[in-house]
Parts: sequence; C-alpha cells; structure tokens
Amino acid sequence: MSNVHVITHPLVQHKLTLMRKKDASTNSFRRLLGELSTLMAYEVTRDMPLQDVTIETPLETMTAKVIDGKKLVLVSILRAGNGFLDGMLNVVPGARICHIGLDRDPHTLQPVEYYFKMPSEMAERDIIVVDPMLATGNSAVAAVQQLKDKSAPKSIKFMCLLAAPEGVKTMQAAHPDVDIYTAAVDRQLNDHGYILPGLGDAGDRIFGTK
Ligand code: URA
Repeated sequence: MSNVHVITHPLVQHKLTLMRKKDASTNSFRRLLGELSTLMAYEVTRDMPLQDVTIETPLETMTAKVIDGKKLVLVSILRAGNGFLDGMLNVVPGARICHIGLDRDPHTLQPVEYYFKMPSEMAERDIIVVDPMLATGNSAVAAVQQLKDKSAPKSIKFMCLLAAPEGVKTMQAAHPDVDIYTAAVDRQLNDHGYILPGLGDAGDRIFGTK
C-alpha cells in the first residue's frame, strides 16, 4: 500500500489556511499556491538520489554531490495542475513538463483523455504528478494509468494540496506503488464531488473563472 505523506511544515499549514478562506482574492490565492508549491516541492524531492562529482572550488579539488539521473518530470493534470508548476520550477528549474487533459464522459462518467504530451526518455525519469485536489481520485488514477501505459517511468509520486479520504482510498487501490504527498486530508466529499471543508473549485480560484 502506498504511503500518504501529510506535509505538516508550519509555513505550509499557515498558507493553506489562508487559501481556504472564501474571501481570498484570485491574486492572493494564486500567490499562496505558488509559495506552497515551492515548499511542497522541497518535501516531495527529499529522497532524490545523489551522485558524487569532482569539482574545482577556487581553493582546491573536491568531491561534491549533484542530483543523479535524468531530469525529473512534473506531470500537470489540466487545468488546475498548472497552478503548481511555476512554484515547483523555482526549486527544480530543469524539470521537464508533461500535460494530461482529461474530460469526463457524460454517459460512463469515466475520465477520457483529450490531451497528452510528454518529454522523451520517460522510462529513465522520476515523475511527480500534480493536481491541487485529490477528490474522487478518478482523474488521478486515469492519469497515472496513462503514464504507466505510455511510458513506464522509473517512479511516480502524486502531489496535491488537499485530499479526500475517498480519493486516497481509490488511488491506493488502483496504484499502490504511488506515494501521495498532500498538505491535508480533509473530512469527506459532498454529493457533487467537492472536498469538505476544502477550498472550493481550485481551477476557478486559480484562474479567476468564477
Ligand atoms: N476539484 C476541486 O477543484 N475542488 C474540490 O473540492 C474537488 C475537486
């Protein structure tokens, strides 16, 4: 069973609370999400492998550490996932980006892919899939499945701002190999698939579409 890592750093928790408030403006919601993404990226990359390299300082030669392997891939589930990218790129500026667009089929209610664009050599890369809200978990499960089917990456992690217990359960059942990183696990979903107490529609709040 995959692990759920709740990022309890005081700065993360404080900023999350400010974002939850219904009167947070689009401007401050977006700025806080950017700051949170940077802090969360720091936690989610904590176990990245290192390798030794020989370098010259101004004074002498030394063996020092650099990140091992090919550049990380950040996978944004459109559209709200894009809200995570700039903040994460502050700490992993060389990361490659993959976008996945999923719509819900009105008859089956299952996610259907309408866009998928990934970097080369995915099989040699570690991947972090990002979407602010892990609600039912259906989109996250489908996105991870597409990645596994199309590229069989080295490793996959999932990062969100808020998770519902239902989404965590669905994700763990479908992809027990994918660890989940979140700032909080909230109480439950409502009848419309919104997380309670939550923060509302993340996409609308990031892009000011409501
Ligand atoms: N998506 C959102 O943006 N918010 C929720 O609460 C659930 C899914």
